[in-house]
Amino acid sequence: MALDHFPANFIWGASTASYQIEGATKEDGRGPSVWDTFTARPGTVRDGHTGDVACDHYHRYEEDIELMAEAGLTGYRFSIAWPRIQPTGTGEVNLRGVDFYDRLVDGLLARGIEPVPTLFHWDLPQGLEDGGGWLNRDTAHRFAEYAAVMAGRLGDRVQKWITLNEPFVHMVWGYGLGTHAPGRTLLLDCLPVAHHQLLGHGLALRELRARGLQVMIANNCTPVWPASDAPADRAAARAYDNLHNRLFNDPILTGTYPDLSAFGADATLGGSVRDRDLELISAPLSALGINYYNPTRIQAPASEGLPFEEAPIEGYRRTAFDWPVVPDGLRELLVGLRERYPALPPVYITENGCSAEDVVNADGTVLDPDRIDYLDSHLQAVDAAVAQGVDVRGYFVWTLMDNFEWAEGFQQRFGLVHVDHDTQVRIPKASFAWYRDLIRAQRGRVEPDRLDG
Ligand code: GAL
Repeated sequence: MALDHFPANFIWGASTASYQIEGATKEDGRGPSVWDTFTARPGTVRDGHTGDVACDHYHRYEEDIELMAEAGLTGYRFSIAWPRIQPTGTGEVNLRGVDFYDRLVDGLLARGIEPVPTLFHWDLPQGLEDGGGWLNRDTAHRFAEYAAVMAGRLGDRVQKWITLNEPFVHMVWGYGLGTHAPGRTLLLDCLPVAHHQLLGHGLALRELRARGLQVMIANNCTPVWPASDAPADRAAARAYDNLHNRLFNDPILTGTYPDLSAFGADATLGGSVRDRDLELISAPLSALGINYYNPTRIQAPASEGLPFEEAPIEGYRRTAFDWPVVPDGLRELLVGLRERYPALPPVYITENGCSAEDVVNADGTVLDPDRIDYLDSHLQAVDAAVAQGVDVRGYFVWTLMDNFEWAEGFQQRFGLVHVDHDTQVRIPKASFAWYRDLIRAQRGRVEPDRLDG
């Protein structure tokens, strides 16, 4: 495969998240997170799985860095567990928690891998949830405090920071539907969670920028396809686009909220927006992180309630998660963002990947041709978007290794590396070797001097 349009210094990465891989949830002073509380409740996660041990990365991070080096990654996106840093979400800093990320960052840098931490990938300290979590405006201020702590500790070695991971998914599944922690079922009353997360982003951005650091956010985005040209389907698709995409991109890139009147909300999002909030939220970003998995097809609702209904997408292959595989959706998304936002900053694909039913063969190999195909076709879609003028600077596969996939427990495997969740044995899959070879070939093509040296 030739990716002809990728720039030199393109970051070839993989992504993970703290609760999904670290384990060691009670070690070295870590406080409880909403995911510890949620997974302890019967019936919340498939087969009762939890992240108590996960991939035991907290103890095995050196081995995992070796794997990344073997793959030739030039970047690694991980998340910092806030409850390791401030066990109750506020106040005193737990140095043993900070030390872990210190060692991780140093280990990555020693292997020439750029660390790209995300400050919040859903594991809110339970202490903050007890005070209302992201429904409480104060959480945004606590988040900025924590961001400042981490910037102070790692900012001498870490340049690129991601504030939040997928505030849309966290709001809808965590606070609207309750299928993720903290398990609240507020339906549309969850909208203040959008604003408070975005405010947290803006306040944290200010802290990070004051220290000369680069700031991004990782938004889950989906191209929205109306099920037909009928005005009702088109209106439903617009409403959904406003909720999923624009609610989190518009305030950051234009300083305004989209029209949410179809959801019965006005521009104050349940009274949560105050003067000057949007100024903070729309302060310039260094880059926008995009997490892409598939498009969404929307039709007019058959009954009262929500102003949209999801319609099936037929005619495409599907992942083990039953998600349609639509590589061109990524090109469509990137080009669409550039058209919608004249001030679009550079973009990083901060997550993209698929789950598959991977098995270890008798000879010890794990062959995952579907994943290779998925990654290959999506990278070509990125290349096509770059050819159409979108400034994409990096790509992070979701995910480095099979891990705790939230409500699906260990059932869904997304990794380049197979993990036996009983023994913790790691086996690089065929996709790992494929990615390694691709990175090597691409870097040799556009950065020959750097590789030769
Ligand atoms: C994203 C999330 C990741 C991962 C992935 C695959 O929404 O940020 O943590 O779980 O989906 O489902």
